[in-house]
Amino acid sequence: MSNIFNNYSLKNHNTFGIAVKAKYFSSFDSVLELKKILKTNLHQKEQFFILGSGSNILLTQDFDGFILHNTIEGICILEDNENDILVEVGGGVVWHDFVMWSVSQELSGVENLALIPGTVGASPVQNIGAYGMEVKDTITKVHTLEIKNKEVKIFSNKDCEFSYRNSIFKMEEKKKFIITKVEFKLSKAPLNKTTYGAIEDELKNLKLEANPSTIAEAVINIRSRKLPDPKVLGNSGSFFKNPVIETSEFEELKKEFPDMVGYTISNSQTKIAAGWLIDNAGLKGYRKADAGVHKNQALVLVNYGNASGTEIINLAKEIQQKIKIKYGISIVPEVSIL
Ligand code: EPU
Repeated sequence: MSNIFNNYSLKNHNTFGIAVKAKYFSSFDSVLELKKILKTNLHQKEQFFILGSGSNILLTQDFDGFILHNTIEGICILEDNENDILVEVGGGVVWHDFVMWSVSQELSGVENLALIPGTVGASPVQNIGAYGMEVKDTITKVHTLEIKNKEVKIFSNKDCEFSYRNSIFKMEEKKKFIITKVEFKLSKAPLNKTTYGAIEDELKNLKLEANPSTIAEAVINIRSRKLPDPKVLGNSGSFFKNPVIETSEFEELKKEFPDMVGYTISNSQTKIAAGWLIDNAGLKGYRKADAGVHKNQALVLVNYGNASGTEIINLAKEIQQKIKIKYGISIVPEVSIL
């Protein structure tokens, strides 16, 4: 019988460091172990949630249900081809460790995603991305266990319906499948995606030529300067998504706010930097008790110590309202709220 803990503290299982408890909690380090846990049928009696390293969730109350924690390890080369390598990675592997493994092998495809918190198993869920790279461009397959029949189901890249910070695993399919492992295709030729300006500047400052290792190093430097370390200051990265608005609306707003940052994403749509909206509304560094807006990156909300999930969510609501009033733009959370 697998270990199922009762009344289990989640404080060390979420990067916001919120001290709530789960009614039941269990970890699995293999698909076999997961099947054993599902045999208890506890997941049918209780609501349940699959947890990686808890870096993209905000816990607002005790979880009255069953939390399943993926700790499947291992990086296994499936194919070594002329131009690329196919690799299968356990869902419990720490994402950054996988990136560091990839660059140590001189492989390319995930180096711009260095230092993103979270696990490999969580990476497809919201199609993690940063500095001009998204994980959807290297994922070939996502291995899951289908809950209702406890059978393995493998999703192709196309099946995952990836889009900006989204996939089917964040939508309706969310509760039907448990991601166990992810397959990636990594390129032997360096992709050298340095279009995101800050990377080029950083490489120049360091006097380094672009390759997967140096790009990862540049990204690590940039992120460390801007983003708070969750071990020091509780947070879950960007709290809000960057909103997409009509370009015509953006042009109108530019008349009043000439510095507003937006990126054209299609003929008619522009993605706005929510960090800029919050910053320009004077909210960078804003703090209410132990819940605050980070002083260097306004898109990140932080827990200064003892903030509850409700205090963080109330701060988020206040920001949403102020942004709506000032610019007429709605911003929505990127983190999952439980
Ligand atoms: N900006 C401000 N003030 C701020 C923050 C940002 O004016 O306080 C401006 C910046 O000057 C820049 C623009 O807004 O012109 C964009 O900022 P940044 O490059 O920091 O990126 P972001 O849009 O705020 C996104 C991702 C991050 C990712 C970075 C880099 C989302 C929701 N966030 O942030 O991802 O690291 O780009 O690619 O798309 C995460 O998802 O947890 C995350 C950290």
